[in-house]
Amino acid sequence: MEIRGTLAVLITIFPYFLLLGSTKAQLSVDYYSKTCPNVEEIVRKEMIQIIKVAPSLAAPFLRMHFHDCFVRGCDGSVLLNSTKTNVAERDAIPNLSLRGFGAIERVKAKLEAACPNTISCADVLALMARDSVWLSKGPTWPVWLGRRDGRISIANETHQLPPPQANITELIQMFSVKGLDLKDLVVLSGAHTIGTAKCATISDRLYNFTGLDNLNDVDPFMDKNYIDKLRSKCSPTDNTTLIEMDPGSYKTFDTSYYNYVVKRRSAFHSDWALLTDSFTRAYVLKHANGFESEFFQDFADSMIKMGNIDVLTGNQGEIRKKCYIVN
Ligand code: HEM
Ligand SMILES: *[C@@H]1O[C@H](CO)[C@@H](O)[C@H](O)[C@H]1NC(C)=O
Ligand SMILES: *[C@@H]1O[C@H](CO)[C@@H](O)[C@H](O)[C@H]1NC(C)=O
Ligand SMILES: *[C@@H]1O[C@H](CO)[C@@H](O)[C@H](O)[C@H]1NC(C)=O
Ligand SMILES: *[C@@H]1O[C@H](CO)[C@@H](O)[C@H](O)[C@H]1NC(C)=O
Ligand SMILES: *[C@@H]1O[C@H](CO)[C@@H](O)[C@H](O)[C@H]1NC(C)=O
Ligand SMILES: *[C@@H]1O[C@H](CO)[C@@H](O)[C@H](O)[C@H]1NC(C)=O
Repeated sequence: MEIRGTLAVLITIFPYFLLLGSTKAQLSVDYYSKTCPNVEEIVRKEMIQIIKVAPSLAAPFLRMHFHDCFVRGCDGSVLLNSTKTNVAERDAIPNLSLRGFGAIERVKAKLEAACPNTISCADVLALMARDSVWLSKGPTWPVWLGRRDGRISIANETHQLPPPQANITELIQMFSVKGLDLKDLVVLSGAHTIGTAKCATISDRLYNFTGLDNLNDVDPFMDKNYIDKLRSKCSPTDNTTLIEMDPGSYKTFDTSYYNYVVKRRSAFHSDWALLTDSFTRAYVLKHANGFESEFFQDFADSMIKMGNIDVLTGNQGEIRKKCYIVN
């Protein structure tokens, strides 16, 4: 953790970035051009089918790639199942409602049939996340490939994932140890333009916020009318109901998330917190009023950056045959 943090800081310093460029260059956009030239077409074809049948899976694939990259780097560790002796990341508390594992296994199986022992699960997930955004009418981008799969997945390491209650200081800190800056933070938070959250994830903002136990005890930074609206959907103990994070266009990748943040109608405290730093605030305000193509380009850039976090390359790790279990 300490060493990784230091590395991430070094990487953000310009001259070192150039120096380390050579190690990073092991990921490339044409990594499988000889060994599996159709990899991207195979994934895209499957994704079109998957999203046609289950449009609500686009958001979980995007979120899963984020969770993968923030814990042990983008190494597919989020996909591993627990074993008799180990509790894996996906069984930790912050896994909350990660979904779509079965679909990932199906895409991986197609790739194993076409190109055995070649495409890592970490790369499959990166491609599925990219296609999820594109199929939600968002941007697309070249995915750098050649990640290898890790063999370790430990539940308690998910503490590196920012919680929805995080304030701006904590968010900046948790992103910066991964080599991501303020701009990446505000841009990638825009992923909340698609998808849903469980009532249980936001109920602390609606009920008993500070422990006073009365109905006025709510998150002061959420719009009062919106609190009423969410309360009508979410009872205090509801663990199952889902709310749209970007109501009205939660299946469409657009800039309306930023508009909800400005109106204090975003799902999480962490979304609201983007208004409390001058840089992230300016970005939110600008994009609440459009500038969609700029957001799309920024999102593509930050996703490529996120997809590079602590990747395994060369002889590190392995190419898993199935994503839920090490070889
Ligand atoms: C900035 C810090 C972030 C925090 C605190 C955060 C937190 C959360 C939480 C708590 C949920 C809802 C879980 C549930 O109740 O089901 C969620 C959903 C989601 N997050 Fe984030 N997230 C953050 C950043 C990101 C990033 C960087 C991405 C991707 C680039 C992302 C993509 C998503 C997506 C797509 C969903 C919807 C998932 C679904 O529909 O099942 N989030 N996030
Ligand atoms: C992996 O674990 C999940 C639950 O944690 C279970 O539903 C699933 O069947 C497991 N997958 C395999 C292939 O064992
Ligand atoms: C998430 O973790 C909980 C335990 O905290 C576990 O019961 C649940 O099966 C996990 N969900 C998935 C999708 O693995
Ligand atoms: C996390 O889990 C690992 C193995 O499961 C254990 O060795 C370690 O002590 C745990 N760390 C913390 C902080 O709980
Ligand atoms: C953020 O949260 C941390 C830990 O709870 C706290 O120490 C810090 O004062 C908070 N910072 C802001 C700006 O609210
Ligand atoms: C409200 O929070 C306080 C302090 O955490 C707790 O003692 C109380 O039981 C909570 N009330 C309800 C209805 O959950
Ligand atoms: C919600 O989950 C908690 C703990 O996971 C459980 O005790 C409670 O019965 C659940 N409530 C509902 C309404 O399902």
